[in-house]
Amino acid sequence: MKDKKRVLSGIRASGRLHLGNYFGMIKGMLELQDSPDHDVLFMVADLHAMTTPYDPQELKNNIREVVLDYLAAGLDPQKASVFVQSHVPEHTELAYLLSTAVSIARLSHLPTYKEKVKQYPKNNTMALLYYPILMAADILLYKTEALPVGDDQLPHLEITREIARKMNETYHLNFPEPTQIKTTGAYIPSLTGEGKMSKSVEGSYINLTDDLNTIKAKLAKVPSDSGKGEILDVVEEKTRILPGKSGSNYYYSGGKRRDGVNALMELIRLFCGDTRKKEYEGIYENAGIQYGDMKDELSEAIYAKLKPIQARRAELEKDPDYIDKVLADGAAKAHLVASETVKEVKQKMGL
Ligand code: TRP
Repeated sequence: MKDKKRVLSGIRASGRLHLGNYFGMIKGMLELQDSPDHDVLFMVADLHAMTTPYDPQELKNNIREVVLDYLAAGLDPQKASVFVQSHVPEHTELAYLLSTAVSIARLSHLPTYKEKVKQYPKNNTMALLYYPILMAADILLYKTEALPVGDDQLPHLEITREIARKMNETYHLNFPEPTQIKTTGAYIPSLTGEGKMSKSVEGSYINLTDDLNTIKAKLAKVPSDSGKGEILDVVEEKTRILPGKSGSNYYYSGGKRRDGVNALMELIRLFCGDTRKKEYEGIYENAGIQYGDMKDELSEAIYAKLKPIQARRAELEKDPDYIDKVLADGAAKAHLVASETVKEVKQKMGL
């Protein structure tokens, strides 16, 4: 137990998970929980969800939704501690103690903070400014050495390391300086054809809980072209007319439509395999793709992956007490470590 690397994963409680979350992060977590060298903590960051405008009842539901999604996807409470941030009061307690080591200027210049203020100009609160300190507390409370976070979280990780260093120097503590674990997760393209699947872009994602018809309806909206064209890497023009083999003309489109086709091809690769993608590329250059059929095939393939997750979720939903028990056990385990850390820090800080 002692030599295991402690890994913490945190996710904001902001609703249901989608395919991008699954392949980008959950899969990585599942590998870590099975690794004998890692001790995995999984935290739902409900206090962080309060740093932007929110609805209390919705927050309450979202906490459960996230936990359900993760357990359904295979997170095993026997192997990982699953807990809710606010159930372990040491998070806020340590955050206060750490705040003595950070200047307001350092926090107010963070790109993540500035973005949120731009997004919610009426919500420039102390809680928002405090976000990185609370996150540093989440991480340092468990003397976490490494954590799977996206690159967007690197500024927060950097500030956590600075806080750890400062606290170690000033109060002779022994916080590790945590590093990023690059998740091996795949990049899941957005259904809009632009960028990656994201909760904040409507129409871009497929939820883990979507049924076959919902998936079909969502894929139906992916922009596509006539089905025929050349597989080209660079498209300079929006639309170009290419000479057709039988004397007629056929089209391929640039911009959005072209990106939509690329997104479909990539999804085919991820869910139906490399070979199938190559076949479709061949069809694209010859007979032409029937997108209706292609999208049906893709919908079925995606749904086949989600079906077992949804079946597990249905089982879990039948027993609400089980979730409560998982979270109570998780909080108790987390508290054991957290209380030790806070005791040590308070003592060294002269309290
Ligand atoms: N800020 C993280 C995000 O938005 C969520 C988070 C909060 C977190 N506390 C954490 C992630 C601790 C890792 C460790 O994704």
